[in-house]
Amino acid sequence: MSELTNSQAVGTALRTFPEDFLFGVATAAYQIEGAAHEEGRTDSIWDAFSRVPGAVVNGDNGDVACDHYHRYASDVALMADLGIQTYRFSTSWARVRPDGGEPNAAGLDFYSRLVDELLAKNIKPWLTLYHWDLPQALEEKGGWANRDTAYLFAEYAASVHDVLGDRVEAWTTLNEPWCSSFLSYTGGEHAPGRQSVPDGLAAGHHLLLAHGLATRELRARDEKLQLGITLNLTVADPVDPDDAGDRDAARRIDGQFNRFFLDPVFRGEYPADLLADVGDLGLDAVIRSGDLEIISAPIDALGVNYYHGEAVSVHPAPAELTTAAPSERPKRSPFPAADSVHWHPRGLPVTAMGWEVQPEGLTRLLRRIHEDYTGPAGVALAVTENGAAYDDVVGPDGTVDDGERTEFLVSHLAAILDATEAGVPIAGYFYWSLMDNFEWAWGYDKRFGLVRVDYETQQRSLKRSAIEYRRIIADRAL
Ligand code: NOJ
Repeated sequence: MSELTNSQAVGTALRTFPEDFLFGVATAAYQIEGAAHEEGRTDSIWDAFSRVPGAVVNGDNGDVACDHYHRYASDVALMADLGIQTYRFSTSWARVRPDGGEPNAAGLDFYSRLVDELLAKNIKPWLTLYHWDLPQALEEKGGWANRDTAYLFAEYAASVHDVLGDRVEAWTTLNEPWCSSFLSYTGGEHAPGRQSVPDGLAAGHHLLLAHGLATRELRARDEKLQLGITLNLTVADPVDPDDAGDRDAARRIDGQFNRFFLDPVFRGEYPADLLADVGDLGLDAVIRSGDLEIISAPIDALGVNYYHGEAVSVHPAPAELTTAAPSERPKRSPFPAADSVHWHPRGLPVTAMGWEVQPEGLTRLLRRIHEDYTGPAGVALAVTENGAAYDDVVGPDGTVDDGERTEFLVSHLAAILDATEAGVPIAGYFYWSLMDNFEWAWGYDKRFGLVRVDYETQQRSLKRSAIEYRRIIADRAL
């Protein structure tokens, strides 16, 4: 491969990133840490769910994962070698407060050492408090369908802040609450695997309440913290914009993925059309007076996770469009108002997840979010996840020439530049993921990493995409 940097290349028009734009990578505790039963950690819902026959491909689990708990120092060194400026990771509730109970000094000390290591290498820690791993003991008391869980979450946030508050500035309460509510409590595809409409709606509301309570708690402790939430947002296009049914399908998908979470956080209300669609299915019953005021506590940053958009219709896709619908979409619709929505493949290239590669959707999404939500509120906007799984092939010399992932990375960074050039300030980009890891219900079958992990030896090796990312970061240009 050419070692020429962009600036040396002849005839290449450089597109540079703003000076303060942060290049990062992301991971999550259950997906990489392993050490599932060490130093006081107890089961999370993902430990329990992984034991359910058929729940996870190949019966995989996070017992060992990438063994990051023991290898964090060399993993941080790897990031430094790539020039990574910020690292988005999550803390495990079941490690910090086993069984959701008292704080565990040994568990907290792990994150303290990790943060020290990052700071020593000049990498900004970007901490997420909840990336789907609720203590199983709390699930047994009702999980996110139980309002008490939201209050316990704020106590857990306080415990993490007690130990890391002096060194971590960027705090994210929740990662993708759509997944930890609708996909988990209604779709049943993710832990805890429940299949209940009222439980999904209750979980969605209580997660938002947890976000608000934790934000309030952290703000009261230190008003200088950068507080935020990360949502998996989408761009839903009607297959036929002239078909009122298709436009309504797009409205409903926009409602459940985007506005169900954005409107309470930014506007202190659930969208009226969603309340009309699902209010009487269990949502109205869990909203108490004052909740929306808590949920809309001012934040400083919104994280957007973007993988693909969607073309939706009320009509089934024609038989000749045989590509599978994106697999993140559960087999059964997890959201009652989306029962009659059909996803139509558009003939775009797809990743190993079956997800369409649609970088221009990211530009449109960022422009819309800036215009409707973050811009007016003066809230920073960052792309906290974006990445692709492909069936990587290890060459005879041990390298992985992952051209498709490299192209995915470059095209989405270009889509971000399209948005910034259109006047949308973007604080940074986190590729998902630093390394291959436990891809939830897909186990180790799907690889998203810039870095390959050999799960037999735990050896890490840079894929071509990592080498390309290192070059982009060094040049700060595409
Ligand atoms: C979103 C999630 O936050 C992350 O945990 C997951 O691995 C990626 N998307 C890829 O599916």
